[in-house]
Amino acid sequence: MDIKVARFIKSSVLLEQCPPPDKPEFAFIGRSNVGKSSLINMLTQKKELAKTSAKPGKTQHINHFEIDGNWYLVDLPGYGWSKVSKEKKTAWGKMIEDYLVNRENLACLFVLIDSRLEPQTIDYEFLTWLGENAIPFVLAFTKTDKISRNKVASNMAAHLKKLKIEWEELPMIIETSAINLTGRERLLGFIDNTLSQIRG
Ligand code: GTP
Ligand code: MG
Repeated sequence: MDIKVARFIKSSVLLEQCPPPDKPEFAFIGRSNVGKSSLINMLTQKKELAKTSAKPGKTQHINHFEIDGNWYLVDLPGYGWSKVSKEKKTAWGKMIEDYLVNRENLACLFVLIDSRLEPQTIDYEFLTWLGENAIPFVLAFTKTDKISRNKVASNMAAHLKKLKIEWEELPMIIETSAINLTGRERLLGFIDNTLSQIRG
């Protein structure tokens, strides 16, 4: 599958403001600066579709992008950004929780994890919360172009070890790079399969 037309639809602060849930959607979440918006641009091959920044905290709302007229990619704000005020953190937390738990057309969530880091508590707490709420997810490891193959492999091994302790069934894991397109085919293949299943 490839993407022909990707267009920004709207930016929402509340679940109620999101576009009607009439098309399957795939959302991107993870720590601030992990590369969510960049991955959306990489998948759609549109450099400035989702706004990116070297500074964390760029994406602050729920952003819907319509793909080929029949499904959505959704860019979400990041978690774990230390500079944001407590009030904002709580508000974003509520907005994201409400979206994740109640968005009826959410087909799957991509949880992005920085491939350069060893397992971080904040990501694993979030995965546990997803499990408790039965929200299906795929793990995408980002920025693999920034470190050596060996380092990616050793961090992935540490993640697998940790995942096996906490999860009976392992999620799908995809290594990605927004720079050299690593993982693009797998991500689009996964989305294509999921869409076929949904549509029967
Ligand atoms: P927030 O919206 O602030 O939560 O961040 P985000 O997760 O959307 O990250 P964003 O896509 O804005 O990227 C953050 C920074 O990482 C930017 O400077 C990107 O250029 C860079 N970046 C993202 N993905 C990659 C990648 O795969 N490789 C490299 N080398 N840099 C990347
Ligand atoms: Mg962003």
